Amino acid sequence: MNQIPDVLYADQDLTTWLVVGASRGIGLEFVRQLLMRGERIIATVREPWASHASALWGQAGSDHGKCQMYICDILSEDSIIKFVAQISAIPNLKIDYVIINAGVLRYPNRSTEMSFDEFAFHLHTNAIGPIITAQKLLQTNIPVGTIVFMSSDSGSQGNFREMEDGFAAYAASKAALNMAVRHMAAELKRKDDDTIILALHPGEVQTDMANINVAWPVHGMITPEESVVKMLHVIQSKGIQHSGTFWTWEDKPYVW
Ligand SMILES: NC(=O)c1ccc[n+]([C@@H]2O[C@H](COP(=O)([O-])OP(=O)(O)OC[C@H]3O[C@@H](n4cnc5c(N)ncnc54)[C@H](OP(=O)(O)O)[C@@H]3O)[C@@H](O)[C@H]2O)c1
Repeated sequence: MNQIPDVLYADQDLTTWLVVGASRGIGLEFVRQLLMRGERIIATVREPWASHASALWGQAGSDHGKCQMYICDILSEDSIIKFVAQISAIPNLKIDYVIINAGVLRYPNRSTEMSFDEFAFHLHTNAIGPIITAQKLLQTNIPVGTIVFMSSDSGSQGNFREMEDGFAAYAASKAALNMAVRHMAAELKRKDDDTIILALHPGEVQTDMANINVAWPVHGMITPEESVVKMLHVIQSKGIQHSGTFWTWEDKPYVW
């Protein structure tokens, strides 16, 4: 059981965020904006010595205490378990918002061409790793307010994006994530657990992931800054009644 004490919601001025996959792109932008708001942050990277990890430290400015960096590679169950054990040892930790942001796109990945390993790589990183990370957190005594999974419009079954040539493994992995997210929300409701489970589509965001030449017109590219400003609003506007729902950065409900 992961019942959330009232104090979690009473402390609106200072919340604790966990951002998994914070080295660059959307994850790093979450850290940057949350630091500007003065929030407490636990940020994970998978390569502590890489140049992008030091960029994360740079965002912390002179007060590194507000952003604690941990190592977590969601392709490794051992790494996930070790990370969760480390934060479980932090006294009186409560986490208001968990953003499971880490994800990969190796383009192109066509059903008619991709290798066994390429398909497995997308499924492991985009579906299995995020779900197991959330599961291990939920199995601790850490009170968790909301868990947000960074999904994609590519993973929607109801709004199949037929023109997305080269996205088969990526889309299938996000669809698998979406289905497991829905089950997680339903399981928690059955257990009377108040942790809110959400999936988000961040928009078409100018990051390394989006730096590919696709054959279809991509409309409405946005900056990581705009995406994260809007997602922060979406995330903080949702209550337990919204658990098990899928939203866009513009706060529009999206079809699973
Ligand atoms: N950009 C878009 O238009 C768009 C659209 C829809 C959905 N999304 C989703 O939004 C999320 C963030 O995407 P982005 O655009 O910011 O991509 P990005 O710039 O490529 O960044 C991906 C992040 O995921 C991390 N990551 C990858 N594999 C990991 C692993 N095994 N363990 C831990 N971290 C790992 C990366 O860490 P390293 O630096 O160590 O590689 C990096 O921090 C992804 O889930 C993506 O699918 C993005």
